[in-house]
Amino acid sequence: MSYPYQIKSLDQYHEVYKQSVENPEQFWAEVAATFRWKKPFDKVLEWNFKEPNIEWFGGGQLNITENCLDRWAESQPDTPAIIWESNDPAEAGRTLTYKELLAKVNQFAHVLKNNGAKKGDRICIYMPMVPELAIAVLACARIGAIHSVIFGGFSAQSIADRINDASCNIVITADGGYRGNKQIPLKAVMDEALIQCDTVQKVIVLNRTNTPVSMLKDKEVWWEEEILKVEHAGNPFFEAEPMESEDELFILYTSGSTGKPKGVVHTCAGYMVYTNYTFVNVFQYQPGDIHFCTADIGWITGHSYIIYGPLSAGATTLMFEGIPTWPDAGRFWEIIDKYHVNILYTAPTAIRSLMSFGLDVLKDKDLSSLKVLGTVGEPINEEAWNWYHYHIGKGNCPIVDTWWQTETGGILISNLAGVTPQKAAYATLPLPGIQPLLVDENGHIIAGSNAASGELPAETVSGNLCIQFPWPGMIRTTYGDHERCRQTYFSTYQDLDFTGDGCFRDQAGNYRITGRVDDVLNISGHRIGTAEVENAINMHTGVVESAIVGYPHDIKGQGIYAFIIYQGETLDNDSIAHDINQTITRLIGAIAKADKIQFVSGLPKTRSGKIMRRILRKIAEGETENLGDTSTLLDPAVVDEIKNGRR
Ligand code: WT7
Repeated sequence: MSYPYQIKSLDQYHEVYKQSVENPEQFWAEVAATFRWKKPFDKVLEWNFKEPNIEWFGGGQLNITENCLDRWAESQPDTPAIIWESNDPAEAGRTLTYKELLAKVNQFAHVLKNNGAKKGDRICIYMPMVPELAIAVLACARIGAIHSVIFGGFSAQSIADRINDASCNIVITADGGYRGNKQIPLKAVMDEALIQCDTVQKVIVLNRTNTPVSMLKDKEVWWEEEILKVEHAGNPFFEAEPMESEDELFILYTSGSTGKPKGVVHTCAGYMVYTNYTFVNVFQYQPGDIHFCTADIGWITGHSYIIYGPLSAGATTLMFEGIPTWPDAGRFWEIIDKYHVNILYTAPTAIRSLMSFGLDVLKDKDLSSLKVLGTVGEPINEEAWNWYHYHIGKGNCPIVDTWWQTETGGILISNLAGVTPQKAAYATLPLPGIQPLLVDENGHIIAGSNAASGELPAETVSGNLCIQFPWPGMIRTTYGDHERCRQTYFSTYQDLDFTGDGCFRDQAGNYRITGRVDDVLNISGHRIGTAEVENAINMHTGVVESAIVGYPHDIKGQGIYAFIIYQGETLDNDSIAHDINQTITRLIGAIAKADKIQFVSGLPKTRSGKIMRRILRKIAEGETENLGDTSTLLDPAVVDEIKNGRR
């Protein structure tokens, strides 16, 4: 196995980057040609950002699972594909070789077919981090069904909204899941969601925790029993469904600035080529390396860099069911020691949290197998970067700071480990094929900000980060609402894809992402829309109105600060705050709970009734002096009250 498109030097990076912007079609066609196609593509790219319409590798047919499984099961059948570590350190781990994983995916593809699944169906997956989750995802792809994975921390209401938005007909779940010393009753949560979902005809349930569950006759079946049926039938091979390049591969819901999460759609060929290309280049994966991405498969990071990127490269991917701090804060380091992990890919919030436990847990851990470290999800502060560099990488592992989004499918801006220079707190340079630039509020391109032009700025510049040319892994639509996709990403600035992030570019051409410029919060690397949280809070009995802003939080990066007008039953404030967080947990999930709640008698509004979040943001950040112009406020006195009551 070798990766002909793996970049090996800084000079080569510059050369390849130049080619990739001068002739993107030829560049991507050459990468794509190294994959297994059922029918070769004849049109590399058709696009416009107006509608938008993005088509890569037109005329081609393929199945992503043949590229992730069959080709490796043939050439390296005994290479571990997935190494799984249980939540419980005492429970034996599991390893699935490429041959074994292919067999399991084929089996489960039959289970799906036996339960009525067809090409194009939307299948909801709500499972713990066990190998069967990866098997379920890949089996959907094998039969051509569109998977919609929902993170195990989301509430019944969130699940129902997502299932209904995509009209899923099949659900795959488990009785429960383990997270540290907690058990999550996944099936019970799903049961509550399904009361609202008419389209679901079958529910397939894996037994993970032996939690008692209710199973409805004919509609709900056990994973294990369905597998037995396939085994009795002699375990036939499952021929992978031929898919058009632009057939939908999956939907993944993410928050935006409106109340309703949107279903980001990725398609088969482009997503495969892009996650593979970025995996091989950013992490500089070498055959035999063990890659440990600590994300949950319920987020895009897990989709792209636990499953599709690594497996499409014939790599060994380590999947961990548990959490970094259980049974103690040495768990990641123990896993690295146990499996001789070579690449660790995690989030700044995890690093900051582990930092806070001190160095004792590192003492008896051998981390010498590590070659490359990565971070993703939010800007990494220098303190965390340095700790990661010196205490985990022992000063000799490059750190890749990878900037990307659910919408981008894979990494867009990052150094390439050990190949291009790293710079603390900078994502650095764009990947080949990626053409970032910065614009001011009026949409004017900032001089020296456009990587593809080859120009560098005379001094550091800043603006809103946009991409001016398509790449294979980009979003194609928001499920069921193409106009929303156009509005959200392609209408703010003409002919540009607007990312929602603010960004700097230094004189060497490095990009530094500063964070969201829209009403989206980044809590522990997870995106949460302020409108979504406000909607949930406003559902609580007694709440009249609320406004949510983010504030700097030592561990989470950003915390949620809620200003609430409450006129309900008179209880003490702490009890009410507690109940409100219970409501958020019920409607969204515990990840969206408010860290601080302040009860106020009014909110700072303009005469037209718009909440001035700028003021609330400053107060939440602890800035009480320079609040800017408050003269347009309907009731300026309310600001003093809010300042005085600050939590
Ligand atoms: C938002 C996307 C991509 C997987 C995880 C999050 C922020 C992401 C970085 C980074 C600074 C980052 C951005 C982006 N972000 N990576 N390396 N440096 N900020 O995916 O939930 O779609 O969120 O996360 O603000 O827009 P997501």
